[in-house]
Amino acid sequence: MNTLLFDKAAGCLPDECFSRPVDLGIMLGSGWSDALTMDEVYARISYSDIPNLGASTVKGHAGEFILYRYGNKRIAAWCGRRHFYEGVGWESVVLPVEILRRMGCQTLIVTNAAGGINPALRPGDFVIIRDHINTVGLNPLIGAHHPEWGERFPDMTEVYNKHLSELMHATANKLDLRAMDGVYAYTLGPCYETPAEILSYKAQGADVVGMSTVPEAVFAKACGFKIAGLSLVTNFAAGISRRELNHQEVVDAANEAKTKMKAFFEDFILRL
Ligand code: HPA
Repeated sequence: MNTLLFDKAAGCLPDECFSRPVDLGIMLGSGWSDALTMDEVYARISYSDIPNLGASTVKGHAGEFILYRYGNKRIAAWCGRRHFYEGVGWESVVLPVEILRRMGCQTLIVTNAAGGINPALRPGDFVIIRDHINTVGLNPLIGAHHPEWGERFPDMTEVYNKHLSELMHATANKLDLRAMDGVYAYTLGPCYETPAEILSYKAQGADVVGMSTVPEAVFAKACGFKIAGLSLVTNFAAGISRRELNHQEVVDAANEAKTKMKAFFEDFILRL
């Protein structure tokens, strides 16, 4: 990856962003953008004003960076993400994590909308990501090794931090939300999967499927972040129900779950 692209993006953010370490970074996926509760906003920047990030082309992705306080936590939230299927390079996909790293942040929550593969899942459920399967055969760490991003061969035994998972379960229990641990299968997109592909991911142990999160999580894990991953199931994966898939259904399901998502963040962040 070309690190100059990150330097340029970081250079466009206000000094306030780097003046004190950020306690928590949040990456919000499709439909999650309204889930934040803020006590005080320090900075708000549109993605289109951040070089090498650029406005998201995906409906449901707000495309805004917000530095704010909630309780006693200083939080940097990326509302919306870029995906490899948008035709952008890995730099744009992992740029939010790299900027968080430069802000001194060490804890990251990644969220997404996902299709449910496990038959126990239905739209509106949460999945606390226990592990992932990268079905794509690509990886943002391919290329020259940069020691500031960790080892050449980073360990991925526990990408999603167990303690943070327990805290997320505690939140789900307290709020009486349907949530289970699960394995997230990452596909490249932008087309949805075929039923045969979904069956093969199921046989591999996947519970949910989506087109994001894993590149950021791999990069963040290599850099030493503690990561919590959370999926909102927005639809049955291809072939799990007879219905055809479309993005509007994903956006609608996320909209319906907004109140639950907001409550989840409010409770979970206070546990950190
Ligand atoms: N497949 C891939 N990505 C998704 C899905 C899905 O079924 N639902 C939401 N994002």
